[in-house]
Amino acid sequence: EAAPMDERYKDFFSIGAAVEPYQLTGKDAEVLKRHYNSIVAENVMKPINIQPEEGKFNFEEADKIVKFAKENGMELRFHNLVWHSQVPDWFFLDEAGNPMVNETDPKQQAKNKKLVLKRLETHIKTIVKRYKNDVSSWDVVNEVIDDSPQNEKGLRESPWYKITGTEFIEVAFKTANRYAGKDAKLYINDYNTEVEPKRTHLYNLVKELVDKGVPIDGVGHQSHIQIGWPSLQDIETSINMFADLGLDNQITELDVSLYGWPPRPAYPTYDAIPASEFERQAVRYNALFELYERLGDKISNVTFWGIADNHTWLNDRAEQYNDGVGKDAPFVFDEDYNVKPSYWAIMD
Ligand code: XIL
Repeated sequence: EAAPMDERYKDFFSIGAAVEPYQLTGKDAEVLKRHYNSIVAENVMKPINIQPEEGKFNFEEADKIVKFAKENGMELRFHNLVWHSQVPDWFFLDEAGNPMVNETDPKQQAKNKKLVLKRLETHIKTIVKRYKNDVSSWDVVNEVIDDSPQNEKGLRESPWYKITGTEFIEVAFKTANRYAGKDAKLYINDYNTEVEPKRTHLYNLVKELVDKGVPIDGVGHQSHIQIGWPSLQDIETSINMFADLGLDNQITELDVSLYGWPPRPAYPTYDAIPASEFERQAVRYNALFELYERLGDKISNVTFWGIADNHTWLNDRAEQYNDGVGKDAPFVFDEDYNVKPSYWAIMD
């Protein structure tokens, strides 16, 4: 039987996987327990699932993941407290039910801002109090930097930003810190953290937070990457930049797509993927984990955005460009949970 991945990297970082509650039994659970010592919810802890209606918290699905982590002695990452996506509309409606982002009256704008920040505090406080003894790292804010920036600082013009400016970021970290206590590790999480101009925009924001004394412990690099992109050099530079600020780094949503962007036509079925693609991917995985290991004192967790190739959000993207069919294969376990060349590449 294949040796456990988490054991291989225990001196450097924990190894995680994103999961849906249905994956906590059967073959998925078996592989999880053997190879991973950390988990994160792929969807069920996002605002839209935890507080779909104001004041109506739903912890049922989230609790299943918490329980599994506890029973198996695994670390738990919480994803996420604040995001512009998968967030219910009610957060951004005023008392009259109007979208706050359309407000032009300065007095009402000020009221709206107060209300949104209050709702945010309630959301975070309720969750953090419930899970503070179970969670080791929190994604406090997710994707607040824009890829094609509309403003000088590169901040994403989400409803959060339009209504509160950057205040929601500070309030989120401070609230999480207040209720989670000093042992909680708080992260800002984003994708394409390796590439300019996003890398610098993220750096500038994080530095500002650190300088202001906002309680932030690290940067989560989602790492939805490709076989040939971004370069190892850019990945290393990014990790070092944040480590030099005294912060931790985590690789939070790793998948290595077979496809470039925009995607070339995807292989229509998993079996149609030639072995040479898996070899190419293994070379990438080898270099990647060699780098992570070398930077091991600056990285505390490496989490894959799934367990095995039978379940990956990247298939939605592959399908989109190939008439509704198309398979990606981003992980180190194949569709049937067998180890791929990429597994051997990171275990050597
Ligand atoms: C994705 C999930 O994997 C999908 O199931 C869901 O439909 C959309 O969200 N960045 C993030 C993750 O921070 O929360 C996203 O997860 C992937 C991109």
